Amino acid sequence: MKSQPSFDVVIIGTGAAGLSLALRLPRRYRVALVSKGPLTESNTLYAQGGVSVVLHKDDSLASHIEDTLNTGAGLCDPEIVRFTVERAENCIRQLITQGVDFTRTEAADGSLTYHLTREGGHTHRRVIHAADSTGVAIENTLAQRVRELANVSLYEFHLALDLIPSSTFGHSQNRCVGAYVFDRTTRQVQVFRARAVVLATGGAGKVYLYTSNPDVATGDGIAMAWRAGCRVANMEFIQFHPTCLYHPQAGSFLITEAIRGEGGTLILPDGSRFMQRFDARGELASRDVVARAIDYEMKRLGADCVYLDISHRSQDFIQSHFPGVYARCLEFGIDITREAIPVVPAAHYLCGGVMTDRSGQTDLKGLYAIGEVAFTGLHGANRMASNSLLECLVFAESAGEHLQATLTDVPMPSLLPEWDETLVTDADEEIVVSHSWDELRRFMWDYVGIVRSTKRLERAKRRIDLLLQEIHEFYGHFRVTNDLIELRNLAVVANLIIRSARSRKESRGLHYILDYPQPDTRVPPKNTVLVPSTEPALP
Ligand code: FAD
Ligand code: SIN
Repeated sequence: MKSQPSFDVVIIGTGAAGLSLALRLPRRYRVALVSKGPLTESNTLYAQGGVSVVLHKDDSLASHIEDTLNTGAGLCDPEIVRFTVERAENCIRQLITQGVDFTRTEAADGSLTYHLTREGGHTHRRVIHAADSTGVAIENTLAQRVRELANVSLYEFHLALDLIPSSTFGHSQNRCVGAYVFDRTTRQVQVFRARAVVLATGGAGKVYLYTSNPDVATGDGIAMAWRAGCRVANMEFIQFHPTCLYHPQAGSFLITEAIRGEGGTLILPDGSRFMQRFDARGELASRDVVARAIDYEMKRLGADCVYLDISHRSQDFIQSHFPGVYARCLEFGIDITREAIPVVPAAHYLCGGVMTDRSGQTDLKGLYAIGEVAFTGLHGANRMASNSLLECLVFAESAGEHLQATLTDVPMPSLLPEWDETLVTDADEEIVVSHSWDELRRFMWDYVGIVRSTKRLERAKRRIDLLLQEIHEFYGHFRVTNDLIELRNLAVVANLIIRSARSRKESRGLHYILDYPQPDTRVPPKNTVLVPSTEPALP
């Protein structure tokens, strides 16, 4: 039998949620931090706009709550919204203590104060930021603090591939007792034993062909929790960010909403503005409205992109507020101080996820989910800008409190079943995996994108059923690889999105379907909750 390392807490994922939790746990706990890439590679690293928090004298908690509820289109849990908003300032103070250097500005009396920007849906200046690279400031600072902790073992380039619920080897009291972890360097699967496991694995932007997310965002945590028997909710609510850079060599580069918050205007190829035709809030309407308006205009005109123009602001202002966007665009020959930026929408954020309570506990005892992987009820049918980093921080704090209060009573699991590879061989057709990746991401973009229809969703269902079957067969016969594990998870997540989208017979928030263009007002709005035991078997 191989050695099976044991930990008080195994945290899978090292973005804002995972790192914050590691820093919150008592130093007497032995903690494993597992990251499938380098420690800092995550959605968090690429965050631009900032974190929402009430700090301005004219703002109030009540207003932050109201804006969040309005954006969420009737599906936010008001108690969770209040819980999150009330804890925001404390979490931000914690980040500042840890060393995050947020942008400051001079107040009227000459003192220095934190600069707050505006984004869609917010009725006040409420977004604290580090110029336009807030994610870099947060992620690098927290990673640095975590590296200083003697109780935390870092496992970079380690991919968690499945959770270990004790019921799978005959225990009647079901509990998550560890995880199977694929070491990407040795290509071996190891067992990590734990008294508690935390999913902080982020989102699933890679389900779509065009996304603002980095490659690590393949929905692994949702797929693992689903296979372990946890409920998943509201997967139809995919947020498409209205403005990603449109350039053949740019890959996925976001153009922050804060540019619109500071007066940036959206224009068509002929130079005319169009947002006022769709919403009285113009460029600062919520993201779903702006993304749909752009999608509509692009299709109407047969245009490849629209444009975002901030060039009327001074060069000094642009370069000091948006140094990252300025520099990146310049690499492609676009000088944003003088010309408009070509932009298109792209998949950005998953509002649904693994269902949790306010301590991050899932349906499986000993398993927690925090950050983008979780469905807490905060975002409802549409996430308000800059509320997601906030959610990571707040729920890392509350999960940490819960673990501290309860873990002492939980015994360390004894040796667990090893990963069984006796019946598999090395795959000889890697092309099957890469082809399936491309196919999945393309049909999700075409059929389950910004604007949906019953017919397109039916097409997507037929394709995902077939793909799931093929992946299941492939997975059963061949040794696991990084790409195969991720593909399998992407397919599970795509299936959950399609199922959820098919079951919502109305348009609400981020889910817009041509056959039901309005919200259903005959019944109170409800969440889409998928329960594993009632589903047909999935791979
Ligand atoms: P992530 O930061 O995505 O971290 C996930 C971690 O899990 C990574 O370390 C990854 O390697 C690891 N992982 C995943 N699967 C596995 C596995 N199987 N095994 C091991 N490790 C695994 N939100 C805001 O509030 N404000 C913003 O300004 C903002 N800007 C954004 C800009 C961009 C370009 C993007 C993509 C998102 C932005 N968001 C913003 C959203 C926000 O960044 C994310 O929701 C948030 O960072 C998620 O944090 P997280 O800790 O939950 O996950
Ligand atoms: C942005 O800067 O536009 C992204 C903000 C967010 O996703 O919350």
